[in-house]
Amino acid sequence: MAIKLDIKDIAASYGAVRALHSVSLNLSQGQTVALLGTNGNGKSTLMKCVMGMVRPSRGSIHLEIDGQTHDLTQLSTQEIVNLGVALVPEGRRLFPKLTVEENLLLGAYREQARSQIADNLAFSFEAFPVLAERRKQLAGSMSGGQQQMLAIARALMSSPRLLLVDEPSVGLSPLLVSQTITKLKELKDRYQLTVLMAEQNFNQAMRVADYGYIIVHGEIVFHSDVAALKENDLVKSFYLGGSH
Ligand SMILES: Nc1ncnc2c1ncn2[C@@H]1O[C@H](COP(=O)(O)OP(=O)(O)O)[C@@H](O)[C@H]1O
Ligand SMILES: [Mg+2]
Repeated sequence: MAIKLDIKDIAASYGAVRALHSVSLNLSQGQTVALLGTNGNGKSTLMKCVMGMVRPSRGSIHLEIDGQTHDLTQLSTQEIVNLGVALVPEGRRLFPKLTVEENLLLGAYREQARSQIADNLAFSFEAFPVLAERRKQLAGSMSGGQQQMLAIARALMSSPRLLLVDEPSVGLSPLLVSQTITKLKELKDRYQLTVLMAEQNFNQAMRVADYGYIIVHGEIVFHSDVAALKENDLVKSFYLGGSH
């Protein structure tokens, strides 16, 4: 039961705009890896490449699951989801006029997850008690922090082996950012989730990550374990002193 993501030297463009130049990144079972960068540096594009929503013009993305290797650049988003990869998109993308429970049920469309709906719903409510209390409330009427919890829980409804989380802190107050990161850490510790998280909030990301990559203008400029990352001068000049 092992999972491994191996991104090698990918480039990606939107028409004439090159968003990724040469990005390599590795992630293995049980790890939480942070992809750190300020706005416009290519974090979401990398996430979309993994999900098959943007096709790299060069390089490879291999996902190894239980000894079998899949070339994600050749698969549709649907096929990638069916392999057990889930994305919590930037900006959450909930259905505001549907209830909490309805949003969660829509997360269970992955074939393998359909038979586990009851278990996964129970799991979501256990992991996020606030969602159980508000299961009949319209998603759009909840606070930003609660909506982020719902977006994460919706992704968990697909029983993912690999969870991608794109900027969970965006648009949240500092307190809610901290609560969301604490929740991700709790999920990781309790359920040994394998997570790739894009963030610009360096200090919060460091609370949950094991390893970090710094992306600047579509290139990885530095990567290391968290201890070395905090000591890196480049990181200090970019991030420390800015975000909390
Ligand atoms: N749909 C798009 N069409 C054209 N350019 C895009 C599109 N999405 C992103 N870009 C550009 O690609 C670059 C990387 O964007 P993005 O991956 O969203 O960065 P981040 O997530 O780090 O903010 C930016 O220059 C951005 O303007
Ligand atoms: Mg982004």
